[in-house]
Amino acid sequence: MSNSQRVETSSPLEINQLSHHFVLENGEELRLFQFLNFVVEKGEIVAVVGRSGAGKSTLFNLISGLLKPSAGQVILGDAHNGAPGRIAYMLQKDLLLPWRTILDNALLGVELYRKTTEDDRQRAVKMLARYGLSSVENAYPASLSGGMKQRVALTRTLLCDPTVILLDEPFSALDYETRLMLEDDVMNLTKTGDTSVILVTHDIDEAIAMSNRVVLLGGRPAKIVMNQTITLTTQGERTAVSARGAPEFHDYHTQIWNGLRMNNVTHGK
Ligand SMILES: Nc1ncnc2c1ncn2[C@@H]1O[C@H](COP(=O)(O)OP(=O)(O)O)[C@@H](O)[C@H]1O
Ligand SMILES: [Mg+2]
Repeated sequence: MSNSQRVETSSPLEINQLSHHFVLENGEELRLFQFLNFVVEKGEIVAVVGRSGAGKSTLFNLISGLLKPSAGQVILGDAHNGAPGRIAYMLQKDLLLPWRTILDNALLGVELYRKTTEDDRQRAVKMLARYGLSSVENAYPASLSGGMKQRVALTRTLLCDPTVILLDEPFSALDYETRLMLEDDVMNLTKTGDTSVILVTHDIDEAIAMSNRVVLLGGRPAKIVMNQTITLTTQGERTAVSARGAPEFHDYHTQIWNGLRMNNVTHGK
């Protein structure tokens, strides 16, 4: 990716003194970030919350290289096998290509960096089946519901073996049950430690259930105004469901909710 540099780092992702501004039509500068620092560790899931307009999607655009920062660096660590790290980005809007079938859309992420193999196709077929999309494998995006398209976009994101995954409100159009299933899938993905996830969500429950850390982005320029490690005592393995039943869940919820609210009052003028 164009913003990332091959600098020695032991973390999958390091954001170093990142600054960015947009120039508005009236010539004014909208300073979104100024000297932002942020590190994501191996296997970590970080949830980013913040009011609408805080700069969450812009941050992802900067990390992924879609936008070039005004100043500062995005540094990607290597994969465990020494290959360069790779970012997969699931945009807030699903962005499926209308002229490709669902299966070919799912394979697009892999195809962007290498020739797809039969093995990739098998994995794609399996993953689509898991998400209840077997019957539409050869259909085109136009015939799918919003939730189905999101599941295809997630399949595409997960298939390309990234070291860092950026998910921008990935589950917002899904029914609750599917949502819990996909939350589990994302959590399982990080268990080997080879993949880290940054997740933007406006759902506080989802942020707490899924993440090792919740980061609250607020103010202008946007700063990390809260950086809360999440430790949950679950019955058995931590899953989307067991996490929500943890005794600590409620207190985290209150704390993050208050953080969001305070941020609205201070910067909502
Ligand atoms: N290309 C752009 N040009 C000018 N302003 C932009 C552009 N993209 C985003 N913004 C502004 O930057 C702010 C942050 O937007 P965004 O990153 O989409 O916020 P979030 O994802 O947290 O809701 C908003 O005020 C938005 O209007
Ligand atoms: Mg956004």
